[in-house]
This record gives sequence, C-alpha cells and structure tokens, in this order.
Amino acid sequence: MIEFKNVSQFFGDLVVLKDINVRLAERRIAIVGSNGSGKSTFARLINGLQLPTSGAVEVDGIDTRKDAKAVRRNVGFVFQNPDNQIVFPLVEEDLAFDLKNLGFRKDEISEKIDAVLSRYNMEGFRSHPVHFLSGGQKQLLAISGVAVMEPKYIVFDEPTTLLDLRNKRKVCKLIRDLEQTAIVVSHDLEFLEGFDRVFVFDGGQIVVDDQPSTALKQYMEMMA
Ligand SMILES: Nc1ncnc2c1ncn2[C@@H]1O[C@H](COP(=O)(O)OP(=O)(O)OP(=O)(O)O)[C@@H](O)[C@H]1O
Ligand SMILES: [Mg+2]
Repeated sequence: MIEFKNVSQFFGDLVVLKDINVRLAERRIAIVGSNGSGKSTFARLINGLQLPTSGAVEVDGIDTRKDAKAVRRNVGFVFQNPDNQIVFPLVEEDLAFDLKNLGFRKDEISEKIDAVLSRYNMEGFRSHPVHFLSGGQKQLLAISGVAVMEPKYIVFDEPTTLLDLRNKRKVCKLIRDLEQTAIVVSHDLEFLEGFDRVFVFDGGQIVVDDQPSTALKQYMEMMA
C-alpha cells in the first residue's frame, strides 16, 4: 500500500500540494486534473524522485525519505518522454543496465530481456540502436525497462501523450494487462474507464476521489 500522510509540497513560495492524506491500495488508479495542478509532483513523490516538504510518503511502510533506494526497487516510474529514461545506445544494453546493478547473472539477464521483448512484440529489436526506434517503440522500450525489473507498483506520467492512435491503444492495453499495480497520470479519459479509482487534482488538492464514471463526469463539468 502507498500512503500519503499529511503531505505538502512547496517550491519557494509556490504551494504545489497541500495536506494530502490518502491511501492507495487499488490495482488501477488514475490521476487527472488541469495543467499545473500537481499531478506529476504527486507521481514523483510516490517513488522518492521528489521528497515532500512536509509530511511523509510511505510505500509498504517504507518512508521515501528514509530509504529511497528500497522504495525505488518496489516502484517503477515511466516518464512522459521516453528520451528521459533511455540511456544506452542499444536496446539490450538499456534493458540490462538496472538488472546488472541488482546482481543478476548474465544468463538470467538475457532470459529476462527475451521475455520482456517478446511480451511487447519487440523481439526483433534486441540489438537495435535505440536511436532508430520510433516514438511509440521508444515508449514501449521505456515501459519494458521498468517492467523487466518486476517492481510491485508502476507509476506512469502521461504515458500515451506522444503516441499515435495505434501505439496509444497498444500502450493502454499493455497497462491494463499489467500484473502490477499501476498509478497513471493521464489526460486520456477514455483510457481510464474500467480503472478502480480516479483522483481529480485541482490547485494542489484532491477535489474528487471516486469511481471513473462519477469522477470523470465531475472533472468534465469542472473543465466546461
Ligand atoms: N522542481 C520544481 N521547481 C519549481 N516548481 C516546480 C517544480 N516542479 C513542479 N513545479 C511547479 O509545480 C506546479 C505543479 O507542477 P506539476 O508538474 O506537478 O503539474 P501537473 O499537474 O503535472 O501539470 P501538467 O498537466 O502540465 O503536466 C507547477 O506550477 C510547476 O511549475
Ligand atoms: Mg505533469
């Protein structure tokens, strides 16, 4: 379970999140809200990419401030732009890097890479230069790079924004079918139907916390 305990986030004088108290235990959680309402900040707080100004964020009882490394092992993060995430020149090198750091053997790493590439229909791209991948393929690689680590939770910050319709559908399906718990920031309301819980953010606060049908209706009214 992920828990926000009285979390506030300031940047200088700017209040970005205010007194957030929430427990996330559902398998599919979505976050919507206007630009600048604090969604990405909330997402980054979950895996300790950002530490709260006050209050605490805990993942399965581990405080992100006390053991960010352990938290990051359990919480994968997929950025909106895969270029922020892919660092190595070849697909297989990129997928191997974190696994090597975790101490997996060469043959184990190779097996895991084969499995993840096959799951996402990317088998042919194993020794492909990352540079030549399309935007959609890069996003799939970025997601593969997180999934291959088998974290318990995966946070996605607008994973479909850069994708064409076909790749968007592919990534949506892939997120729906994940074994892991997914927390997804998205402006794509259609995708969020079928989720277990939707938060609407406004001005750094959670103003709606409900099932998709109710929450998205309220959000659309707010945005009218
Ligand atoms: N590291 C930072 N330093 C200063 N201000 C920041 C920082 N990160 C975020 N902000 C500010 O916090 C506010 C909320 O930003 P955040 O990225 O969380 O919004 P968002 O809801 O994800 O918006 P969008 O829908 O545009 O992605 C914005 O005003 C942003 O400029
Ligand atoms: Mg954002």
